[in-house]
Order: sequence, then structure tokens, then C-alpha cells
Amino acid sequence: MDGNGRWAKQRFLPRIAGHRRGVENVRSTVRACVEKGVEHLTLFAFSSENWRRPADEVSLLMQLFSVALEHEVAKLHEAGIRFRAIGDLSRFDAGLRQLIVNAEKLTAGNHSLTLTVAVNYGGRWDIMQAVNRMIAANPGKTYSETDLPQYLSMAYAPEPDLFIRTGGEQRISNFLLWQLAYTEMYFTDTLWPDFDSAAFDHAISSFQSRERRFGRTSEQVKLADAELREPLAQDR
Ligand code: IPE
Ligand code: MG
Repeated sequence: MDGNGRWAKQRFLPRIAGHRRGVENVRSTVRACVEKGVEHLTLFAFSSENWRRPADEVSLLMQLFSVALEHEVAKLHEAGIRFRAIGDLSRFDAGLRQLIVNAEKLTAGNHSLTLTVAVNYGGRWDIMQAVNRMIAANPGKTYSETDLPQYLSMAYAPEPDLFIRTGGEQRISNFLLWQLAYTEMYFTDTLWPDFDSAAFDHAISSFQSRERRFGRTSEQVKLADAELREPLAQDR
């Protein structure tokens, strides 16, 4: 979710006003995902590199996160949304950590949408904590690619279908590095507070127009699709 600061600057407002608008936009995006039947929405809210920002901006972001949790969690729960946070939470103060734990506990049985917020998250950190846990669990083994995912912080979710980055930058910035191997990437100049439902629909239609080959040829994919469709045609 990039572009809050620039959104504010365009309006001669302080950066934090952009972050506030960003939170509002999270609310409408979550709603849109529920309506569309999206099962997982994962938001990169604060990276492990964002601590390098001016101290007052960091502390305002933390406040904003706390306030959002205090105000929104009950509503998420009512809507049947499961809340999860990923990242190294040890750097957050005890109050914020408690809000996160409470939100996860309260919503643990919900299934309409899993909303994951990545905070103090880094893809490399995630891979390394997974590697360390994997080795501790099976010391001395030779590991393969399929051994690691169960130790990643998002082991509960499938790999993402679609990655959206707002705000014009075309990079991953240490998000879900392992899981993005076959994810469709979508970059837009639209700033996060301006990323409305029309912009979201545009991202989804771009995704729908792509052919996901996972290393196969286009012919193989078309054949497999046709074979999958055949029994449906007979049913009719
Ligand atoms: C993204 O908006 C929000 C966070 C990283 C918390 P930015 O704050 O990066 O906005 P720009 O890039 O300055 O416009
Ligand atoms: Mg930015």
C-alpha cells in the first residue's frame, strides 16, 4: 500500500493525513474483497525497513495501527473476517502486541475472508525464521523445496494469485519473497488512498486476462483447461 505520503503532499497536508486516508481505504478494500469472495487479502502495512523513517512518523503509524485495531476488530468479527498479523512483533510495545493477539483470538473461527496484515515484516526475515525452525525440527536432514513452506509465517494460506503495488514503484520491497514465485504482478501509479473499487476491478480484470502457465506451454494449458471443462459441458 504505497503512496500515502504523496497523496497528502499533493493536498498540502501532513504525511499522517495520507496514512489516515490509507486506513480508510483499507476498510473499503476489505469490504470489496468480502463482496467479491476473495479468500485472502494480505496487506503490507509496515516493513522492517520502515523503522528508518522519522521517529514521529513511525510513532504516529503505530498509534494509527492501535486505534484501527481498537475500532475495527469487532466489525471485522461481525463480518466473519479472520484477522492475522505476520512479521516480527517483538519490536512492538506490549499494548499493541496484546491488541494483535486479542484480535487473532477473537476472529480465529471466522471464514469469510482472512485478512493478514504484515507489520515489521520482511520476506528475507520470514525465509530465515522458517529455515531456522525447519532445521531445529529435523536436524541433519537434507531439505527440499517442499519442506520449507510449512514454517513460513503464512503457512495457513495458499500462495498469492495476484500482487498489487500502488504508488508507481515497480518492485517487491521484501514482501512475500518465497510465495511470490508464480504470482501475477500488477503495478499501478494510483496512490494507495486513491485506489478505489474501480481501480481494484481494473487490477482484477488484468489478472483475469493473463494465462498462468507455471512453466508449461500455452498449448498444454489450453488442453488442460478444455479437459477440465468437458465434464461440465456433459453435465448440462
Ligand atoms: C505507504 O505510503 C504507507 C507505509 C509505508 C506505512 P508511503 O508513506 O510510503 O507514501 P509515499 O511513498 O511517501 O507517497
Ligand atoms: Mg512509499
